[in-house]
Amino acid sequence: MSVMIAVAGKGGVGKTTCSALLLRGLLASRIRPLLAVDADPNANLHLLLGFPSPNGLGSIREELLDSSGGAASKGEQLEAMVQQRVIEGKDVDLIAMGRGEGPGCYCFVNDLLRRSLSRLAGGYAAVVVDNEAGMEHLSRRNLRRIDHLVLVADPSPRGISAARAIRDLSAELSLKVGKTWLLLNRPYAAGDAAETPCLPIPLLAVIPHDPSLAAWESASRSFLDLSEESPAAREMAKAVSVLLSGDPR
Ligand SMILES: Nc1ncnc2c1ncn2[C@@H]1O[C@H](COP(=O)(O)OP(=O)(O)OP(=O)(O)O)[C@@H](O)[C@H]1O
Ligand SMILES: [Mg+2]
Repeated sequence: MSVMIAVAGKGGVGKTTCSALLLRGLLASRIRPLLAVDADPNANLHLLLGFPSPNGLGSIREELLDSSGGAASKGEQLEAMVQQRVIEGKDVDLIAMGRGEGPGCYCFVNDLLRRSLSRLAGGYAAVVVDNEAGMEHLSRRNLRRIDHLVLVADPSPRGISAARAIRDLSAELSLKVGKTWLLLNRPYAAGDAAETPCLPIPLLAVIPHDPSLAAWESASRSFLDLSEESPAAREMAKAVSVLLSGDPR
């Protein structure tokens, strides 16, 4: 069964960066094939993975409602539409959720979409979902099951409290979450994690500020190809071992 990893947190803390680094770390641990899911309507994960701009799943809703045919045929059409939107890479494929629900009742299509996404995910060793800031996709239960909910935070009290709020909401929503982790990104100074009192969520890793990431992105190079020289990639590789073994540090 595929390992489902959802990355969430408040705006601008490094969710997309960490999602790309997680994918790279999984590949370094020989976990493949991987599916990258961009669940941010302003899709940008593809830019860090060297993929072209994706056509999101959101537009399927209207296309399917406009098409003729009964429930069974719509199910088949939807499978084909989802498949068409998968961008295939060497070891990593990408799919984007696109924009959210528009007006009108799309319950039937949303349910089909959810099921289709689960089926698609089943064909991969691991799936990494880069969420938009907040809980939109999580609260819509687009994922039936999350093995690892990785909450990215900066080490400020506000950053940590935002992570805690998402953790609490996921519990209130009774989402099927295996483990919830805190991923501290860009500590202000060495030792920040140790100095942050009583982290409310098990710490997965501390990802340092890494100036090479900006250079890599500017050159449109895939983060999947980052070398071990990148301090952020190195720390994320350790985090992946923890995820795969399930033991907190
Ligand atoms: N560890 C890091 N080292 C260096 N730069 C980083 C690091 N983490 C994030 N950044 C930079 O911070 C900025 C925001 O990162 P990113 O886009 O990953 O955040 P995000 O949480 O996905 O934002 P949004 O909420 O808009 O989706 C980017 O310019 C990114 O390059
Ligand atoms: Mg992002």
